[in-house]
Amino acid sequence: MVLSNWSAEMDVGDDWMNRQHRWLLAVAGCYTQALCRNAPQRELVEVLEEVADYARDHFREEEALMAACNYPDLASHRRAHQQLLARITILLLELRNGVFGVEESIRQFLGHSLTAHIKDQDTQYRPYVQTLLAA
Ligand SMILES: [Fe+2]
Ligand SMILES: [Fe+2]
Repeated sequence: MVLSNWSAEMDVGDDWMNRQHRWLLAVAGCYTQALCRNAPQRELVEVLEEVADYARDHFREEEALMAACNYPDLASHRRAHQQLLARITILLLELRNGVFGVEESIRQFLGHSLTAHIKDQDTQYRPYVQTLLAA
């Protein structure tokens, strides 16, 4: 079963983006589940690759939405996306190379950074999306 820890305080005012956030957090949650049941390293890599792929697609669509509603902080938001993807890429590399302790670092990163980004940064574009949707 896929569980997501999405909550109402992450509502960005757009159903499609909310759905993508639910799914992103659910895929991230799969990593924690896999780690908890001592899944083999190969499986952890596959799940993290899925997180990376989905995050990349989601960020692209989200940036397109922000551009469509003339969100003024698009440039800094895009940089935040790039930093998240860069971090995931490094963690994926370390996981593939068997760096000691990286499995737990990834769990902490996925548990905190994605949730914090949605709550603190994605919700900032909500009024602009709502204005676009009301037009
Ligand atoms: Fe997002
Ligand atoms: Fe974002």
